[in-house]
Amino acid sequence: VESKKKASVLVVDDEKGVRQALRIALEDEYHVLLAGNGKEADKCLADNHVDAVLLDIRLPDTDGITLLKKIKRTDPALEVVMITAVKYVQTAVAAIKAGAYEYIVKPFVVAEILNVIKRALEKRDYIREVVHLRRELDKYKPFEEIVAASRKMQEVFSYISAIAPSDGTVLIQGESGTGKELVARAIHNRSQRWKKPFLVINCAAVPQTLMERELFGHNKGAFTGAVSSMPGKLEMADNGTVFLDDIDSMEVNLQSKLLRVIQEKEFERLGSARITQVDVRFVAACNKDLRQLISQGGFREDLYFRLNVFPLFLPPLRKRRDDIPLLLEHFLTLYREKEGRGPERFSQKAVDFLSSYDWPGNVRELENLVHRICTITRKRTIQIADVPVDKSAVFLKKGLPLKEAVHDFERNYISETLEEVNGNRKNAARRLGIHRNTLLAKMNQLGLKGGYRK
Ligand SMILES: Nc1ncnc2c1ncn2[C@@H]1O[C@H](COP(=O)(O)OP(=O)(O)OP(=O)(O)O)[C@@H](O)[C@H]1O
Ligand SMILES: [Mg+2]
Repeated sequence: VESKKKASVLVVDDEKGVRQALRIALEDEYHVLLAGNGKEADKCLADNHVDAVLLDIRLPDTDGITLLKKIKRTDPALEVVMITAVKYVQTAVAAIKAGAYEYIVKPFVVAEILNVIKRALEKRDYIREVVHLRRELDKYKPFEEIVAASRKMQEVFSYISAIAPSDGTVLIQGESGTGKELVARAIHNRSQRWKKPFLVINCAAVPQTLMERELFGHNKGAFTGAVSSMPGKLEMADNGTVFLDDIDSMEVNLQSKLLRVIQEKEFERLGSARITQVDVRFVAACNKDLRQLISQGGFREDLYFRLNVFPLFLPPLRKRRDDIPLLLEHFLTLYREKEGRGPERFSQKAVDFLSSYDWPGNVRELENLVHRICTITRKRTIQIADVPVDKSAVFLKKGLPLKEAVHDFERNYISETLEEVNGNRKNAARRLGIHRNTLLAKMNQLGLKGGYRK
């Protein structure tokens, strides 16, 4: 019983006799399409699904090599077998260099043709399989998801690569929105555990009793309402990674239970005396200074040492400003795609301005800002005026002498105003409530383009 769909083979040859002979040779095993010249071949390729091509090197309206190159450009995985007469074998060799799979010399043996086609199709399947696997792999190992250009982040990358394969606990510290969870996932994806689960436990969001159930699971009857047994996240993450987010919020009582799991790799479900063993790697994150918490009695020092086998510090965005332009671009592309609309670019001034902003909410704040701009702004280019952040904050935080701060402010304010009126100086002067000549003089003095020239 023939259950698999037949593969399609396109035969391109100007001799009718050759076409017929090939059709008879192939039609038992393949769906055969015929073309007598380049034009017919083009049409056939456009209208049909084709798995392999048998291509005569000499055609009336084009030559086989040109057609071959065209086919390979459109679909590099489509295999082409050249048909040639003895006297054109040199050309056939050139065709191989141009990407043909193989050539056969006329007059040919049917068995040989069938064999070549079979191998060509196998190669195609194999390539498809590899491409598919690579894509799958990319999904699981996306270092590219962390967008960064700064030297500080490049160091973080190499640190991640170095510690990922180990089973040692990682403690990621960094301000809110710096990408701690992203990094935790990157560590998991680069470890041998990457095919196994990565489970997040948010220690801040869940009250202690619920947290215990979530972590350890429970047996039927362990508490009111426990109508059936449930495995906890530790069991579900067996052979994988558990990400303990906001570990500083975990209650001290639970901290000791966690310590035991990390040390002994075992625990009991709630309401059960049976010991369950697990193999999980822990990655923890916090945005507070744990050392200080320890001195205040809010965090167990022994747990801290257990977690801090590999300390990883994520710098705040204002300490790696080189990343800002790249992140702006990244999220603009992302949200334009998601929203199906939005501006195409940031003006250079807007990029400069946002690069000097301090981003107290770090990458998350930047991401949300770009998302908002994408939804709201109708213009093609995002100008400073379209950016909804408190602009005075930028000047306050730089710690400049008054004179320079005023200079900075005037310069930005005037260039923003000019942007808004599309560079019309008369309108800008009116908006600013100053005479046009004063504006020109100021532009000149502040080094703004389009100022008054002698
Ligand atoms: N370098 C980066 N490249 C791309 N996206 C990033 C980067 N850093 C952070 N993000 C994105 O910013 C958002 C916040 O990141 P994440 O949730 O990892 O931060 P966090 O440090 O865990 O913050 P919190 O402490 O508030 O939980 C996420 O949407 C994340 O995808
Ligand atoms: Mg987080």
